[in-house]
Amino acid sequence: METPISTIHSGFDDEERCNLHLGDAVKWLKGLKTESVDLLVTDPPYESLEKHRRVGTTTRLKNSKASSNKWFQIFPNSRFEELLEQIYRVLKKNTHFYLLCDQETAFIIKPIAESLGFKFWKPIVWDKVKIGMGYHYRARYEFILFFEKGKRKLNNLSIPDVLSVPRIHRGYPTEKPVELLDILINQSSNENEVVCDPFMGSCSTGVAAINSNRRFIGNDICEEAYEISIERLILCK
Ligand SMILES: C[S@@+](CC[C@H](N)C(=O)[O-])C[C@H]1O[C@@H](n2cnc3c(N)ncnc32)[C@H](O)[C@@H]1O
Repeated sequence: METPISTIHSGFDDEERCNLHLGDAVKWLKGLKTESVDLLVTDPPYESLEKHRRVGTTTRLKNSKASSNKWFQIFPNSRFEELLEQIYRVLKKNTHFYLLCDQETAFIIKPIAESLGFKFWKPIVWDKVKIGMGYHYRARYEFILFFEKGKRKLNNLSIPDVLSVPRIHRGYPTEKPVELLDILINQSSNENEVVCDPFMGSCSTGVAAINSNRRFIGNDICEEAYEISIERLILCK
């Protein structure tokens, strides 16, 4: 079945399974209704990614039509407060929020999120299975910060806090595996609930959400990411 795609700014109506938008994450979130999202999973382009990129511990760039050959725009640490404020506002009561980042960014995000009312449970470790590039204890993991607004039970209480899923090679820069997002989405949402990603990149969150019969709203500032996302969602079941 073809997935309807549209660019309505203010969320979507009941019939739609997904809605994608091109623009700034905070501006887009400001246009969404208060308490309209059941789960937010996101992977912002935090400042210290530039450092990992310089020493070669994150995705190398490549020249191919299939994925971006340009490094994406960075979201400055100074904007996290306004971002987290909007994330807290759009989430319904009793929901979860996951944010992928490194340990440096985790120390910045945690106190801001807590001051807004989120409970911080713990960092979940994404074990990328294969060693990365660089030196000085070569990178093999990333954090997934696990937050809660109100109280919500995880769907499966036997999932460990280390998730071993192989990294993606030669995808969109820092593309996350759908299998990893699938675990988070199935843990913290139910069928037909709305999953949101304001920095969707190549839309791995959206693919996992739609494949698990959730609805998806996503946004990215980069036109190429937006187009890749549309193509990937059209191929979903
Ligand atoms: C780390 S990547 C996301 C990768 C994604 N998780 C995936 O699996 O493909 C971050 C994305 O944020 C986008 N971005 C940068 N600044 C933004 C902003 N101010 N608002 C929205 N998106 C932004 C970039 O274009 C990039 O696609």
